[in-house]
Amino acid sequence: MAFDCSCLFLVVLFSASCKVITSLDQMCIEKEANKTYNCENLGLSEIPDTLPNTTEFLEFGFNFLPTLHNRTFERLMNLTFLDLTRCQINWIHEDTFQSHHQLSTLVLTGNPLIFMAETSLNGPKSLKHLFLIQTGISNLEFIPVHNLENLESLYLGSNHISSIKFPKDFPARNLKVLDFQNNAIHYLSREDIRSLEQATNLSLNFNGNDVKGIELGAFDSTVFQSLNFGGTSDLSVIFKGLQNSTTQSLWLGVFDDTDDKDISSAMLKGLCEMSVESLNLQKHRFSDFSSTTFQCFTQIQELDLTATHLVGLPSGIKGLNLLKKLVLSVNHFDQLCQINAANFPSLTHLHIRGNVRKLNLGVGCLEKLGNLQTLDLSHNDIEASDCCSLQLRNLSHLQTLNLSYNEPLGLQSQAFKECPQLELLDLAFTHLHINGPQSPFQNLHFLQVLNLTYSFLDTSNQHLLAGLPALRHLSLKGNHFQDGTIMKTNLLQTVGSLEILILSSCDLLSIDRQAFYSLENISHVDLSHNSLTCDSIDSLGHLKGIYLNLAANSINIISSHLLPILSQQSTINLSHNPLDCTCSNIHFLTWYKENLHKLEGSEETTCANPPPLRGVKLSDVKLSCGITAMGVFFLIVFLLLFTILLFFAVKYLLRWKYQHI
Ligand SMILES: *[C@@H]1O[C@H](CO)[C@@H](O)[C@H](O)[C@H]1NC(C)=O
Ligand SMILES: *[C@@H]1O[C@H](CO)[C@@H](O)[C@H](O)[C@H]1NC(C)=O
Ligand SMILES: *[C@@H]1O[C@H](CO)[C@@H](O)[C@H](O)[C@H]1NC(C)=O
Ligand SMILES: *[C@@H]1O[C@H](CO)[C@@H](O)[C@H](O)[C@H]1NC(C)=O
Ligand SMILES: *[C@@H]1O[C@H](CO)[C@@H](O)[C@H](O)[C@H]1NC(C)=O
Ligand SMILES: *[C@@H]1O[C@H](CO)[C@@H](O)[C@H](O)[C@H]1NC(C)=O
Ligand SMILES: *[C@@H]1O[C@H](CO)[C@@H](O)[C@H](O)[C@H]1NC(C)=O
Ligand SMILES: *[C@@H]1O[C@H](CO)[C@@H](O)[C@H](O)[C@H]1NC(C)=O
Ligand SMILES: *[C@@H]1O[C@H](CO)[C@@H](O)[C@H](O)[C@H]1NC(C)=O
Ligand SMILES: *[C@@H]1O[C@H](CO)[C@@H](O)[C@H](O)[C@H]1NC(C)=O
Ligand SMILES: *[C@@H]1O[C@H](CO)[C@@H](O)[C@H](O)[C@H]1NC(C)=O
Repeated sequence: MAFDCSCLFLVVLFSASCKVITSLDQMCIEKEANKTYNCENLGLSEIPDTLPNTTEFLEFGFNFLPTLHNRTFERLMNLTFLDLTRCQINWIHEDTFQSHHQLSTLVLTGNPLIFMAETSLNGPKSLKHLFLIQTGISNLEFIPVHNLENLESLYLGSNHISSIKFPKDFPARNLKVLDFQNNAIHYLSREDIRSLEQATNLSLNFNGNDVKGIELGAFDSTVFQSLNFGGTSDLSVIFKGLQNSTTQSLWLGVFDDTDDKDISSAMLKGLCEMSVESLNLQKHRFSDFSSTTFQCFTQIQELDLTATHLVGLPSGIKGLNLLKKLVLSVNHFDQLCQINAANFPSLTHLHIRGNVRKLNLGVGCLEKLGNLQTLDLSHNDIEASDCCSLQLRNLSHLQTLNLSYNEPLGLQSQAFKECPQLELLDLAFTHLHINGPQSPFQNLHFLQVLNLTYSFLDTSNQHLLAGLPALRHLSLKGNHFQDGTIMKTNLLQTVGSLEILILSSCDLLSIDRQAFYSLENISHVDLSHNSLTCDSIDSLGHLKGIYLNLAANSINIISSHLLPILSQQSTINLSHNPLDCTCSNIHFLTWYKENLHKLEGSEETTCANPPPLRGVKLSDVKLSCGITAMGVFFLIVFLLLFTILLFFAVKYLLRWKYQHI
């Protein structure tokens, strides 16, 4: 308001200068020339003249456009994406988008819509995604969607909609996503669901509506990609309503604030009358648990029981024979055997992450899961002095094992010999004690990724990584090396197949010239956040075309004989180093400007020295270390004066000589 008044005042006085001021204030950010612009939050009340007619992708949210009409976007005929989030739009008039045939995404989220003309969306025949979240809509008749033949997703969350019945001419044929999150839909009738009949493979979201009734047979012989009834307090309503339906995924979780009824075995019988592949029941509580609780789960392949207050699963559960993926995260097990793994013999994926109590791995608790491929046991406070052969017995098909974020684990030699097929092993942030001189990873012939981030290894053990012929990706981030040095002989010599090596935050001071000689196939080396100086660049001399991260080290001057080593790499990050911008570093500074295309993070690559240039981007430094034009001028003047002086001196000398002959 204050701005408006002062502007008005200025308009009266100097109308021209006020215009200049406002247009300076309102600078859209160009993200891609002539195509992509961001004009968010600039207090704009019209499309600025500075936007080219060719604009295709426009983020215009958080401005002020109370009415849209046929002139508002007239110029921008090639728009494909238009975001008008929170622009206080009330009225959308006739033919607003009449010539916008390419428009495929329109975001009207957060506008208090009062009126949308019947023809307001007539132009964009190729509109695919329409966002009408938080627009105050209470009736679907409000939306003029009748000719949007290509609509694929319609987002209607956080409105006041109570009935999902679409008008007869609603073209649902291509619809894939219909999102009614957080509305007031408490009842679904047969007719409601019929209006969506044309859509195949639809994902329908009623999350946060607390549906209290579904007409019997409403979903009879319907097929959905996914159905979400999250936050429903009484699941028996849903199970009854979904009789004879087919859905790939059914989401029935609740939230912390839902006052929900416990799930009983009787309720779950409803699943026998429908077909579901993937079921999520997160945060519910089970009132009773018996061997028959899951008898109607015979078709279920994925089951998510995250935070369902489980302390165990009874043995002899029937019905989970086809289950492939099971999520039991954030429950209250004391011991892994309490899940009674024999209940789900076909399991290929098991996730138990963030167990509330300290989890004991026990002995052979998963041995019946001979088909298991992925096992996530991260964040479980697991502690074991002698891991992991007994604990992981018979997991001969395991490919991915996540033991990150646990308590100290002791690993003996061949600790993973029960899982010879492992391809990925994540031990990040788990303190490891290696018992004995031999490699705990021996015989992992297929291991490709090994994450040892912050695992406090004894890196002086040169055999630590022996026996990993296929290893491509190794992170040793946050581990320490003796004396801060990677020596000529080191633990990397046994892993010549490495392609990605992470050695960031290892407190490194130096690297031997030959330390990386064995790494023939390396393509990515991250040495950031160490204390390396330019001498360490020498150790990379035999590497070509790699991504090299040297950010946040102690590099100040890079002498000219090291520049070819940098030149032969593909991408280099030198940000956050104390770089010297004086003439002693002129070769590097010149090289830097010529090779800007290879450098990433150049915004953060700045001078540390001399003090007047501190913080200046290297690419902006202009240094002249030869003789300047001014210098040349003075030199010439000096030489001229010197010559004149010499001439007179000689003349004087000769005259003096003749006078004394
Ligand atoms: C953007 O448009 C201007 C004027 O039409 C033209 O000169 C320029 O080459 C265009 N730039 C790109 C990247 O297309
Ligand atoms: C819109 O795009 C078409 C095809 O790419 C082009 O011929 C036309 O000039 C563009 N129109 C504007 C106003 O940029
Ligand atoms: C825009 O709408 C106004 C009033 O409804 C009308 O007079 C005008 O012809 C329209 N302009 C175009 C280009 O359709
Ligand atoms: C942009 O489009 C408007 C209206 O279509 C036209 O008057 C104007 O000349 C165009 N500007 C350019 C630079 O082509
Ligand atoms: C159904 O949709 C899902 C994702 O929405 C997609 O992955 C799947 O391929 C689709 N299936 C068919 C048959 O179109
Ligand atoms: C489900 O299908 C069966 C067999 O086709 C039928 O008898 C039953 O009435 C259907 N149930 C509902 C609620 O439509
Ligand atoms: C090991 O897994 C296989 C399936 O791969 C299974 O047949 C066998 O019974 C399991 N062994 C034990 C001791 O459970
Ligand atoms: C292992 O689990 C941690 C924490 O749950 C996660 O951040 C990490 O991405 C997982 N590792 C893999 C390879 O998925
Ligand atoms: C360990 O590294 C792998 C590969 O980069 C990554 O997928 C995983 O998320 C990392 N684990 C953690 C806990 O960050
Ligand atoms: C490097 O890669 C090539 C091609 O993938 C492969 O044949 C060779 O064995 C690899 N070298 C090492 C040391 O693993
Ligand atoms: C350069 O490396 C630093 C440290 O790893 C990182 O934070 C930054 O994002 C990198 N810069 C770019 C442009 O990737």
